[in-house]
Amino acid sequence: MTLEEYYREELPRMEYAKQYLLDLAEKFPAQHQLSGVEPILYCTSRIKSPDSMTAKLKLRGLPTDSATALTEVYDAVGIRVICSFLDDVYDVADWLCKQNLFRIITKKDYISWPKPNGYRSLHLILQFTEGKAEGLYAEIQIRTIAIDFWAALEHQLKYKHTIKHEATIRSELKRCADEIASVDMSMQTLRDIIREEK
Ligand code: GTP
Ligand code: MG
Repeated sequence: MTLEEYYREELPRMEYAKQYLLDLAEKFPAQHQLSGVEPILYCTSRIKSPDSMTAKLKLRGLPTDSATALTEVYDAVGIRVICSFLDDVYDVADWLCKQNLFRIITKKDYISWPKPNGYRSLHLILQFTEGKAEGLYAEIQIRTIAIDFWAALEHQLKYKHTIKHEATIRSELKRCADEIASVDMSMQTLRDIIREEK
């Protein structure tokens, strides 16, 4: 089933919401250009596919129509903001929380409180309160590029039903996540020191 067939007349509003958030991220004021490293490296976005949306609704014991999807599932529209440094992640999140076309419903900080598998990311769930996308929900994931690299590989485990040496792979991934977290902190510290030297 295509996005048009599933979300129907809501799809243009969803596309609008997605583009609005991408354009907004572009406007993040880079006060700290001094470091010579962009705070936001790039953004990606997607509208949740009908397959994965209906699977999520079924899992939660809900009807699988798109009206239910848009009121019960908050990540039909999703954007991901990839930052250089940990501080950038928090600066971008704080800045997004101050914008006025939407309200923030939840903020999940898996960087301060990582998941058991090592996943680290900052998630904002928001709802548009005015404008063309009024009423729609969206999820913004903000993370460092190092974590994003890890998450892309880890995510592939979700689609494999049988994996050889699964326990070893999971524990190695956890080790990598922890090493990445440590590198992210060192990079942040080094940047702070370099900045002070200027
Ligand atoms: P869903 O996982 O979407 O059902 O929602 P939730 O309520 O569990 O929220 P959560 O914040 O845990 O996850 C939202 C999204 O974050 C997921 O759809 C993934 O895109 C991403 N995510 C969460 N946990 C992981 C993880 O352990 N690994 C990876 N690679 N991505 C994750
Ligand atoms: Mg989840």
